[in-house]
Amino acid sequence: MTFDWTGRSVLVTGGAGFIGSHLVELLVDAGADVTVVDLLCSGSAANLAAVADRITLHEADIRELDWREHLAADVIFHFAANAYVPPSVESPSFDYETNFAATFRLLETLREAKWPGRLVFASSAAVYGNAVRVPIAETDPTVPISPYGVGKLSAERYLNVYAQLYGLRMAAVRFFSAYGPRQRKQVVFDLLSKLDHDRTQLPIHGDGTQVRDFLYVLDAARSAMVVAADGELTGEVYNVGAGREYTIDTLAKSLCALLGLSPEFRYTGVNRPGDPEKLVVDIGRLESLGYRPEFELDDGLAEVVRWYDEVTGARW
Ligand SMILES: NC(=O)c1ccc[n+]([C@@H]2O[C@H](COP(=O)([O-])OP(=O)(O)OC[C@H]3O[C@@H](n4cnc5c(N)ncnc54)[C@H](O)[C@@H]3O)[C@@H](O)[C@H]2O)c1
Repeated sequence: MTFDWTGRSVLVTGGAGFIGSHLVELLVDAGADVTVVDLLCSGSAANLAAVADRITLHEADIRELDWREHLAADVIFHFAANAYVPPSVESPSFDYETNFAATFRLLETLREAKWPGRLVFASSAAVYGNAVRVPIAETDPTVPISPYGVGKLSAERYLNVYAQLYGLRMAAVRFFSAYGPRQRKQVVFDLLSKLDHDRTQLPIHGDGTQVRDFLYVLDAARSAMVVAADGELTGEVYNVGAGREYTIDTLAKSLCALLGLSPEFRYTGVNRPGDPEKLVVDIGRLESLGYRPEFELDDGLAEVVRWYDEVTGARW
């Protein structure tokens, strides 16, 4: 990275969350002066325990925040959000207020102030909806199929227009599914907790041949720093994934090997509704900035198991 983070004032909204807290740790390690704004709803102060005495944590709601209080930041990572699709389907207005309206107000504040800093916005693979081809590239059609996806895409588009029209230096990262310590959802955590519950058999959706990209959380967090440091920041978007293909079967087998377990795999035979057979990502644009994922699947899984054992007391 060509950017010196030492002494930089950095605001991380959602910094107490899963990806945000790992990002905050990386920023602190790099010498940045970090302020976190987080409502501590899905995130928690415990996620920031390792750096608690080296950051400023404001418990606040971005839906009500006066963004002018944060204009002194050199860099803003805007990660606070409803981070999942189902709540957006149950309550589109909640998702709209949190993910879109709050972001729009942030952009307006930056425009009015002619803010000179750099901003990276956490967007999502959900902007693509049902992918028309794989691997998915940034230039592929964006046809979201959930309020969550529409909100992220709308925010991205405003961000692009504000960068173009008003010269604000901003970009968006489209995270594909990340996994890692502190995540209590999604496939890696699900498999681990199922195995913890019953070590003799492991239910797997579909036939295990579904192909996915597994992005380790530290690689996800680092990608946002790479974009802030070396991205064009003219409103562009970057896919963020590991750029590798694994089947769910491979994932499950790697996890079992790590735990020393050999359960019987029980395939449900049917994919969950809306679950695509293949979801892989083209990360060429991000790689052109010098980014390379650093974590192999086995290393990332070992970190998840270590964390899981620590927080649950599980012994394998
Ligand atoms: N985890 C993934 O695989 C993934 C994939 C695509 C996109 N993203 C995006 O990345 C970002 C981080 O996701 P995550 O997985 O770390 O989720 P997360 O839920 O762990 O983090 C979101 C953080 O935002 C905070 N927050 C929520 N509403 C808030 C509000 N109104 N005011 C202030 N803080 C609020 C939460 O407390 C939490 O700490 C989100 O914008 C999410 O949409 C994540």
